[in-house]
Amino acid sequence: MDGECMNLAIIGMQFGDEGKGKIVDYLADNFDAVTRFSGGSNAGHTVIYNGEKIKFHILPSGVLRGKIAIMGNGMAINPKKLVEEINMIENHGIHPKVFISSKAHVVTEIHEDLDSELDKLIKIGTTRQGIGPAYYEKYRRTGIRIADLFNREILEKKLKLMMKLNDIHIERNDTSTIASELMEYGKKIKEMVSDTEIIINNMINSGKNILFEGSQGTFLDVDFGTYPYVTSSNTTVGGIVTGLGVPPKKIDKVMGIAKAYTTRVGEGPFPTEVEGEEGKKLREKGGEYGATTGRARRVGYLDLPMLRYATTINGIDEIALTKVDVLQGYPMIKIGIKYKCHGKEHIYPPPDLHKCEVEYIDIDGWNNINDENFKKYIKLIEKETVARVTLVSYGPKREDTVKL
Ligand code: IMP
Repeated sequence: MDGECMNLAIIGMQFGDEGKGKIVDYLADNFDAVTRFSGGSNAGHTVIYNGEKIKFHILPSGVLRGKIAIMGNGMAINPKKLVEEINMIENHGIHPKVFISSKAHVVTEIHEDLDSELDKLIKIGTTRQGIGPAYYEKYRRTGIRIADLFNREILEKKLKLMMKLNDIHIERNDTSTIASELMEYGKKIKEMVSDTEIIINNMINSGKNILFEGSQGTFLDVDFGTYPYVTSSNTTVGGIVTGLGVPPKKIDKVMGIAKAYTTRVGEGPFPTEVEGEEGKKLREKGGEYGATTGRARRVGYLDLPMLRYATTINGIDEIALTKVDVLQGYPMIKIGIKYKCHGKEHIYPPPDLHKCEVEYIDIDGWNNINDENFKKYIKLIEKETVARVTLVSYGPKREDTVKL
């Protein structure tokens, strides 16, 4: 940033919905390419563009700034939704240059059905976008990849195998029709399909600046999150290496994005959750409704053990703190500082999180970001995470994000 050549990773530090899209939009002008390395249309980024609210799910949100968009092999892409999203932004007068990995996995309507059926049994509260089934097919080595959209024989064979292997009953067996539809969407994106790992490394080696856009958050990571209440990919920094083919030493800086409080969509442990009237008030003030599903988000206090953990495992150098305006006007602000489980204190979230109690501290509230109490709040976050808070956002517009 600021003229230095660098490749920057943007990683959610909580349960997703931290405002990553807004921060990416703020920073994107400094980069030559914006990329995604994990997930698919389960993500939801809301960006205000020319005064209009644009919701993204699958493209990297930096495309709005006219940047090259690279969609890595680690993604699970629904071709229909991708084509619709490209059409949507073209209608806004944006014609992005998009590169899609031939190795990324394909999400079909069968995966969406399987996701809904499976979620009735395991109750994760997924976004029903077919993401989990696309990844389990990937790891079973039966998945459909983007390259398969151009070979009818392979595509139909894989669709048939998928029907056979998934014993969850779905009332659809016309693999031929599904294959035809998928191939139609394949035709529309064919020009964009490439060896993205080579393109991105050539860009890096020729001194271009790359922005890696994380989706969801650290605590939805399939390895480090609150398993099984997680998404099915690596949302943490390691996902960039495997999901784009970028060597770790090429990631120059990691910026963590954290909301001034905590929210979660779907099931799973949430130690600092606030329910009842107080929770309702915070949800309304923050407009906490899911960008993908419209579901009311669960809300709670800031959880510093979570931020410490996210900083540690992602190597976060800097933090962008979002939605600080939502906490404005509260006389006192409660912050989770550590956990107590089975009589023992923990400064990082322990695995049996749902059995822990949170120890809180109260700090004085603030009325604006120049208030001394706000500065104390920032200092506390910096002390506890050992990362610098360098950006603060206090509203949805681009001008509402400021450097500290
Ligand atoms: P899936 O990614 O649709 O399989 O959903 C798994 C879990 O991750 C559910 O709790 C979802 O609500 C949550 N999730 C997935 N994507 C997002 C996101 O972009 N923001 C917040 N939560 C998400």
